[in-house]
Amino acid sequence: MSGISIFAEKKAKNEKITMLTCYDYATACVFNRSNIDAILIGDSLGMVYQGNSSTLPVTVDDIIYHARAVKRGATDKCIVADMPFMSYHVSAEDAVRNAGRIIKESGVDAVKIEGGIEILDAIKAIIAPKIPVMGHLGLTPQSINVFGGFKVQGKDLDSARNLIRDALALQDAGVFAFTFEGIPAKLMTLIQSKLSVPSIGIGAGVDSDGQVLVINDIIGMCDNMRPKFVKQYADVGSIILNAVNSYCDEVRAKTFPAAEHTFKINDEVIEALKNE
Ligand code: KIV
Repeated sequence: MSGISIFAEKKAKNEKITMLTCYDYATACVFNRSNIDAILIGDSLGMVYQGNSSTLPVTVDDIIYHARAVKRGATDKCIVADMPFMSYHVSAEDAVRNAGRIIKESGVDAVKIEGGIEILDAIKAIIAPKIPVMGHLGLTPQSINVFGGFKVQGKDLDSARNLIRDALALQDAGVFAFTFEGIPAKLMTLIQSKLSVPSIGIGAGVDSDGQVLVINDIIGMCDNMRPKFVKQYADVGSIILNAVNSYCDEVRAKTFPAAEHTFKINDEVIEALKNE
């Protein structure tokens, strides 16, 4: 099973949908052997891969570069790629051109877009040529300058109402699924009860149809902030640190490379060379 149909199929069977971000070929090969349902080329790559303090600097070319690498490794998985900041805001034409580039040049299955009714025209324009769109509402990281940081959204009546309005409008426009990020769990449960398409939560409680997290966060490969909603499942950072330090120690002690890592030559060749 691959492609976006997995979202609807899992929801119909009342099975949770699992999604993680991925940015490179080697990790994608591991994902391809895993039980993960879907992969996201998140613009979070701007932070965890490029070291920026926000996702805003990420470009369409960055997304395509990483998406192509992931696609080569995760050949059997459904892959969604983010539309980065300013790639769908200028005009609906610009949005569909950029979404088309991402799909054509990387081969991913769908794009994800942050925002509500203010970007409805762009979403409709992208869906028109049959590009599947995942909506992204709540704590949308491309809006941090308006939110004043990474702050939970939908806590008061007005903003909760707006979230419900946005979700219903996007669903009517034809999005195949949603990411809801950084919203109260009870609001997620309520929104979910009004939607027919699957909801994937991140910091939105346990009731959404699925969950998504950033791979670097769950494997301990991120030195900067760790949001409350992240659970770390492994400490790969420590494993790499130990490997790097062991390598340095062995190089300095001349125990690496050992005989088994070394290429041989007949002694006569060396002797002949010495005598030249
Ligand atoms: O960019 C990203 O990784 C995301 C997830 C956090 C949902 O949008």
